[in-house]
Amino acid sequence: MTSYLKPEYPIGIFDSGIGGLTVASAVVKALPKEKIIYFGDTAHLPYGDKSTAAIQAYVIKIIQLLLEQPCKLILIACNSATAAAFELVKEYVGVKALLVNVIDPAVHYLHQHFAGKRVGLIATRQTVNSAIYERKIKALHADITPVSHATNLLASAIEEFGNHPVMDSLLATYLAEETLHTVDALLLACTHYPVVKERIQAYYTSRVNKAVTIIDSSDIVAEAVKQQLEKANLLNLDGDGQKRFYLSDYTESFNQNARLFFEEPIHLQHYSLWD
Ligand code: DGL
Repeated sequence: MTSYLKPEYPIGIFDSGIGGLTVASAVVKALPKEKIIYFGDTAHLPYGDKSTAAIQAYVIKIIQLLLEQPCKLILIACNSATAAAFELVKEYVGVKALLVNVIDPAVHYLHQHFAGKRVGLIATRQTVNSAIYERKIKALHADITPVSHATNLLASAIEEFGNHPVMDSLLATYLAEETLHTVDALLLACTHYPVVKERIQAYYTSRVNKAVTIIDSSDIVAEAVKQQLEKANLLNLDGDGQKRFYLSDYTESFNQNARLFFEEPIHLQHYSLWD
């Protein structure tokens, strides 16, 4: 079905900005020999507040670019893009590449490890309003009670400040939501949020009178990528691990923050989707 795909082809990963780098670095850790092409759609950040139609239009352009490379597997490293466009992308990509999103592996993980539990989900407005987690939990007949809460400004603030202490006050404002204090676990359902995972954990430890597991799904998603490649006999076991980073708008804050994710220096290239 995907016989024209080759192990030496790169893995394409995209997000609106730096969020997907949390997943990309987990993929690099799990599969160090793979070539990676990363696209950050910084010109349209944040996705979380955009309409479904706008996100679909951006995402299809990015998919076209990644298919042209050609990528053997495309990882949608963005919950908002998955919520708004996964079904469309699935149809568009067809058998031209393998496709992984960040939501299905996380829902399977919850099903396996948190049965009978209340699980908080913090995410963008797009992800929360789409109710995609609730629908997928139901479709899997998973015994999970999801408690979703939109934390609208968080991704943009992370894009600007990274893991700076200034983030504590914004987090405290969002996490003060009473229903988020009743959960057994909290899933970071936006790929930007693992950047401030320790701050979220510290909030729960100091302000909530209950042990709450903070779930960062990056490694879970990286494992799903590995499994898909293994299944299709497309793992690259002796590649050079080359990485290319494209941005639809070059920003210095992205440049600064992106360096924190990888040990080697990274070179960012501007690539306009709209010329
Ligand atoms: N990192 C993205 C997500 O997982 C998008 C954040 C944004 O651009 O609003 O939803």
